[in-house]
Amino acid sequence: MFYRGRRLRKTPVIRSMMQETALSASDFIYPVFVVEGERIRREIPSLKGVYHYSVDMLDGLVEEMRACGVLSCLLFGIPGHKDACGSSASREDGVVQRAMRRLRALCPELYIVGDVCLCEYTDHGHCGILDETGYVKNDETLLRLNEVAVSYARAGADMVAPSDMMDGHVASLRAALDEAGFPNVAIMGYSAKFASSFYGPFREAAGSAPAFGDRKSYQMDPANGQEALREIAADVEEGADVVMVKPAMAYLDVLKEASQTFRMPFAAYQVSGEYAMLRLAVEQGVLNESAVYESLLAIKRAGAKLIITYFALDMAKKLKEGTV
Ligand code: PBG
Repeated sequence: MFYRGRRLRKTPVIRSMMQETALSASDFIYPVFVVEGERIRREIPSLKGVYHYSVDMLDGLVEEMRACGVLSCLLFGIPGHKDACGSSASREDGVVQRAMRRLRALCPELYIVGDVCLCEYTDHGHCGILDETGYVKNDETLLRLNEVAVSYARAGADMVAPSDMMDGHVASLRAALDEAGFPNVAIMGYSAKFASSFYGPFREAAGSAPAFGDRKSYQMDPANGQEALREIAADVEEGADVVMVKPAMAYLDVLKEASQTFRMPFAAYQVSGEYAMLRLAVEQGVLNESAVYESLLAIKRAGAKLIITYFALDMAKKLKEGTV
């Protein structure tokens, strides 16, 4: 009798030798929310286990990251001041820019990624500059985003990640960074970003829910997988170093097809709603904790080299202890 794989799954040793996909701490990018103020390390109500940090409290976080081996983070800022053009997003002394300088000083080898978008900085909560009818003005927005990206590069970012979904954003950022003397700052395009309900907890954490309307004119329809491939093709063409699919778990088909089509380094973002869903289910005892491991493994198996996840530190700790 032939038992197919069963003989090769018989003991832990052969199981791990046969494992096709393995997670490690270096797969993860940890999203970090920085706020104005001092001595703040406050749990975010919509994202249990995730914190708002003021710049002076980042040393504790860096310690934690070092200890578990996660050496990359994606920064989001919650500014003290918002206006129609998101002016605080590109300030030299903006909250993200100060955080970048501090992180660089605390940990020179840290890989620092800055999320480039206006929605946390605009009083209307949209990702760009609006016209009188409330529609996003693509090209004016691009100029603002260039200023944000260059200010991040000056503050020491290794990579910028435009999450705005404006057309032509990667080409525009690339030209601006090169021109400002930062040809080695990389760009990760949020290339296939869907207009998803799974961003709910993030918008609460970042205070960035649109004051009116929605993001459907610039983010993609969840029904459209082929459109995602066209968006990714455009970002690749424009010079993106890494391309992203977001959310991750509800779009694994897109991730798999795109990563096989483009043969580029792919990132996937397990977003706030996906995190909250799993975390709450585990907390309530509805799911076993290994569901988290399984979800991350699936994202890697589908083709992601980099996984942006709020579970990064927890999972890296468990991988290190061997308790997954
Ligand atoms: C900003 C941005 C969002 C997320 C990342 N960058 C929110 C949005 O588009 O509304 C969501 C991340 C998450 O849900 O964890 N444009």
